[in-house]
Amino acid sequence: MMAEYHVPVMLKQCIDGLNIKPGGIYVDLTFGGGGHSIEVLKYLSAEGQLYGFDQDDDARVNAQQIENRSFTFIQANFRYIKRYLKLHGVAQVDGILADLGISSHQIDEVSRGFSIRGDAELDMRMDRSSQKSAKTVINEYDEKELHKILGIYGEVRNAKTLAAAIVSHRFSNSFDTTFQLIELLKHFAPRGRENKYFAQVFQAIRIEVNDEMGALEEFLEQSAEVIKPGGRLVVMSYHSLEDRMVKNYINKGKVFGEVEKDFFGNELKPFRAINRKPETASQQELKENSRSRSAKLRLAERIENGTE
Ligand SMILES: C[S@@+](CC[C@H](N)C(=O)[O-])C[C@H]1O[C@@H](n2cnc3c(N)ncnc32)[C@H](O)[C@@H]1O
Repeated sequence: MMAEYHVPVMLKQCIDGLNIKPGGIYVDLTFGGGGHSIEVLKYLSAEGQLYGFDQDDDARVNAQQIENRSFTFIQANFRYIKRYLKLHGVAQVDGILADLGISSHQIDEVSRGFSIRGDAELDMRMDRSSQKSAKTVINEYDEKELHKILGIYGEVRNAKTLAAAIVSHRFSNSFDTTFQLIELLKHFAPRGRENKYFAQVFQAIRIEVNDEMGALEEFLEQSAEVIKPGGRLVVMSYHSLEDRMVKNYINKGKVFGEVEKDFFGNELKPFRAINRKPETASQQELKENSRSRSAKLRLAERIENGTE
């Protein structure tokens, strides 16, 4: 239905991972074009419920096309999942699916400012009512912060040099558009690999603008409370920092740090990993959808009493 908006990645693996009970309650944390939600709905009976979250107005427009009484759309940041589910009278659910990052639509719609392929205002907000845009990050962050963001979120090799160049450029001219930024980046990109370099820088800025790591951390920390014992956590991520966070949370019960033990030495962690290594897209899917290339899917089951 909304295939041109976004082609859902690893659809079958995600659905299998959710282990859907027809009368259960599920959450699609990242509705986007609704590809995963539409598939989940096929498995639900009239008693089942699906809540779809997305903070983007364009996703809300897609959601309006779904005519199914089991479905409810919530336009909000998923970092507030517990609060919003409570507003809908839901304390616990049978499974949550998260397909992190941005949709193909958000990238392809040049005016949103996520794309390196067309000129637009430096925006990159998923939630267009939020204050911070790419302009804020590029024009107002100090050199040290820029260095950190470019290095950690974008894995940009010459992050320190680039951060200094951005700051010194700002003395004479502010950055307003994506192409103004790209003009500067051209001086620092390795020859022959310019687009990859631009994409890394754009990724770093986008993650910061939308506080993607902060939102993921807050969601994961609520997930144990929101998912019923026996329920499923299904998370697909597209870069190593996210995957590391998800992996650590599933294996250690914490986003950062080591697992805690009780008096008897039992590990205190709310989930059991279903797959030790993350699942990746099949050869066929990789051929058909380049976006599936970096996808890593982790599956976990909520443990009864939180110890193992
Ligand atoms: C990769 S797309 C999901 C695509 C979807 N699974 C499909 O098949 O169409 C990610 C979506 O999640 C939304 N999103 C990302 N982070 C979010 C957050 N913290 N809160 C709410 N929505 C978020 C984005 O706006 C985007 O529409």
